[in-house]
Amino acid sequence: MMLSKGIQFKKRFSAKQKELDTLEIDNPFCRAEIALQGGQVLHYQQKSAPEDQPFPSLLWLSELNSFEPAKAIRGGIPLCFPWFGTYATHANYPAHGFARNLVWTLTATDYDASLGHLIVLELSDQAYTRQFWDYAFKVEIHIRCGQQLSLEMHVFNTDQQPFEFTFAWHSYFTVSDISNAQILGLHDTAFIDQLADQQELQVENEPITIQQETDRIYPEATGHYQIHDQMSDIQIDTSSCTSAVVWNPWIEKTQRLGDVGQDAWQQFVCVECGVIGQPITLQAGAKAMFDLSLKVVRK
Ligand code: BG6
Repeated sequence: MMLSKGIQFKKRFSAKQKELDTLEIDNPFCRAEIALQGGQVLHYQQKSAPEDQPFPSLLWLSELNSFEPAKAIRGGIPLCFPWFGTYATHANYPAHGFARNLVWTLTATDYDASLGHLIVLELSDQAYTRQFWDYAFKVEIHIRCGQQLSLEMHVFNTDQQPFEFTFAWHSYFTVSDISNAQILGLHDTAFIDQLADQQELQVENEPITIQQETDRIYPEATGHYQIHDQMSDIQIDTSSCTSAVVWNPWIEKTQRLGDVGQDAWQQFVCVECGVIGQPITLQAGAKAMFDLSLKVVRK
């Protein structure tokens, strides 16, 4: 396939000399990198004028990634689909669904002088997905790399029967230090603390700060959040993702993860957008669309 000018293929090599294909994007608005595995944005950085005051990278990517085929890449924006978290009836199924472990097909690229690059990736059912989720489906991710990073997910039910799914864009946002980060837009919103013994709804009235391992699901949230940091803020907007998740592994969970550096938990916070509270039912032949826009705003 012919790539639009400003996009080129790159490879990330694993320790075992296997390789993962990524796309590198460079245009007047930004630089970005997208892995075909998972359809996962790994890097996005807005360009600035004057150039001596660069924007920080929007996304955190672990330095301990092994880039093994079929192993989820830690960082960037993994897509959890067609389920978020552990599959309710089968704890041995892939955590957060199978979409992040599979290689997506690049179907189109485009460049528009005022909007930047568009990259379209596609994933359909195959023998591997059928063993966990026995439906015919097609998912497209449209990634717009411009003055902001905009994602659209189009889910098509190509089966003869309805199916249900949950999903999340599991974004890892870079922060100067976790102690500086304040998350706005989720206070006064009911959440479930996944680490608590009682899985009951609670509310916090202040902007969120991370002071311990944090793993909260907000089933019904506004879709408009900011991460306030020292020098800049991150703006997160969605009109269709009704749920949010805030996650940081802190010290001990980091040690259990194995692919996050010992102190690296201080460099990111995940503010995830998706639909988790209530699964989406998609009728045979129907299509659903979800959006997410992200950018760094300088103070
Ligand atoms: C978060 C979940 O979204 O993802 C956490 O709420 C989970 O419970 C975290 O630990 C990381 O998941 P994984 O599978 O990428 O290690």
